[in-house]
Amino acid sequence: MGIEIIGIGSYLPEKILTNADLEKLVETSDEWITTRTGIKERRIASEIEATSDLAIKAAEKAISKAKISPDEIDAIIVATVTPDMFFPSTSCLVQKGLKAKNAAAFDISAACSGFIYALSIAKDSIKSGTFKTVLVIGSETMSRVTDWQDRNTCVLLGDAAGAVILRKTDSPSDILSSYLGADGNYSDLLYMPGGGSREPATYKTIDERKHFLKMEGNKLFKIAVKAMADSAQKAIALAGLTCNDINLFIPHQANIRIIEAVAKHLDISMEKVFLNIHKYGNTSSATTPVALEEAIIEGKVKKGDIVVLVAFGGGLTWGSVVIKL
Ligand code: UT7
Repeated sequence: MGIEIIGIGSYLPEKILTNADLEKLVETSDEWITTRTGIKERRIASEIEATSDLAIKAAEKAISKAKISPDEIDAIIVATVTPDMFFPSTSCLVQKGLKAKNAAAFDISAACSGFIYALSIAKDSIKSGTFKTVLVIGSETMSRVTDWQDRNTCVLLGDAAGAVILRKTDSPSDILSSYLGADGNYSDLLYMPGGGSREPATYKTIDERKHFLKMEGNKLFKIAVKAMADSAQKAIALAGLTCNDINLFIPHQANIRIIEAVAKHLDISMEKVFLNIHKYGNTSSATTPVALEEAIIEGKVKKGDIVVLVAFGGGLTWGSVVIKL
């Protein structure tokens, strides 16, 4: 028995925010953003779009590609740190929007690694027989938690959603392995302090800009390189493979320099690494599913190829999944 990706879809909001636009907002330059991050532009959700709206649009594309009815979906897992609201879960709002009336629904909070965590859970739930058809979505409206006065973070983030549908199959396709990790000791390197049970929203928390994402980029950078390289190696070994067997690496798109350093660590050529950071920036849990769909559309991978998805993010969390397409 294997697991097949029977449908994949993404949604990128129409509005484009360029580095030139950001030059008008904060003291920055296209040159700094491009050389330090690799980002040229990012997408921003419209005022009437929330995370579930992006997720539903990506899921509808995946359902149409899979040629299934929403009734056939047994579970919906949404990875997000920018839910529509605390509760109900964004996945329940997606279930309603898709009319996927037979699906269980729950969210995963693992920041930028959320889609990898969700994919791993979906894989195990199918292999154990709990579900047969699972819709896994990474959807984020990072622009809603971005401090547009903070040049350290506002140049990095974007909005997007990506969705895949997994189904039990007799074909050789499979999710060969996954490896997940976390270290809560570094929870203060990337976080949003306000609005939770520790600091509920008050005029004071708003004045202190606590409802925006805070990040210590420089410290994260070093941990990200090691954690991503290490988790990719562990997942590849769990699949009984080596780096040479991998046709395409799809890393979390946070910073081109992190990606290059990970590739160097793993001794893989950048030709085998998929990049779309220049177009979308860091869209947290949406980066890897959006990139996987683009890699397939652009013909960078074909049926039977081995692909590794690698992510790292707040928590801190990290993880990798090895897929045979
Ligand atoms: O999604 C997963 C989690 N996120 C990450 O893994 C992100 C990891 N970190 C990074 O990608 C990088 O650390 C950043 C892109 C965030 C920053 O790059 P850096 O090379 O580490 O720069 P830095 O933070 O060391 O800052 C260098 C300088 C500072 O100026 P001084 O103190 O040297 O005078 C910053 O104030 O660059 C300055 N700076 C900027 N200058 C122009 C910071 N942001 C900007 C900006 N424009 N937007």
